[in-house]
Amino acid sequence: MKTLLALAPSPRRGGNSETLLKEFCRAAEDLGWQVELIKVNDLKIRPCQACDACARDGHCILQDDMQTVYPKLISSDALVIASPITFGSMNAQLKTFIDRFQCWWQAKYNLEQPFVPEEANRKGFFICVGALKRKEYCENALQIIKVFFHNINHKLAGNLFFRGYDELGAVQQDPGVLAQAYQAGKEFIAMVEKG
Ligand SMILES: Cc1cc2nc3c(=O)[nH]c(=O)nc-3n(C[C@H](O)[C@H](O)[C@H](O)COP(=O)(O)O)c2cc1C
Repeated sequence: MKTLLALAPSPRRGGNSETLLKEFCRAAEDLGWQVELIKVNDLKIRPCQACDACARDGHCILQDDMQTVYPKLISSDALVIASPITFGSMNAQLKTFIDRFQCWWQAKYNLEQPFVPEEANRKGFFICVGALKRKEYCENALQIIKVFFHNINHKLAGNLFFRGYDELGAVQQDPGVLAQAYQAGKEFIAMVEKG
């Protein structure tokens, strides 16, 4: 069975980004995929310390919950991330998580032994949700996602920006956006299966 790795970095359980992520993932499950959801806010992780130890072998020496994440990304078949906007970009939980892939940067560029080879043709999708209508905020987050995906050898297959949703449960009042997330999940999985 194929696995979709889903990252939910919001601290709000049942919040807007997690709700949309789950709709996206429900489509994958309906197509016979299994979903592994990581609540990034629950991980006990330290920010990258720029110690450069990973330059030796591509492995991070910080022994925390990230050590359980790296193998999950290696063995998954596709990736979806849904972040809330905070202060104009992705939230800090997700950025901290992404910075811990500096070891994958070393593995790819310095050691030329990426953990996910480019030929694997892995794909990823990005969803973000903000309270304000300004689309620059989601674009800021997307720029970071593009750098991250490039580093981990995932191709950005698509993205969805949801703007104007603030209170907990706001997206649930809007069946149109839930359907949009489900449809995006369906199309994403179809694209991944096509190769
Ligand atoms: C610390 C913090 C900062 C925020 N900053 C922004 C912002 O700069 N722009 C914006 O559009 N929304 C901002 N928001 C609102 C959230 O993006 C919005 O409530 C979103 O729906 C939260 O998604 P969630 O329910 O998945 O956590 C902020 C929320 C928090 C808690």
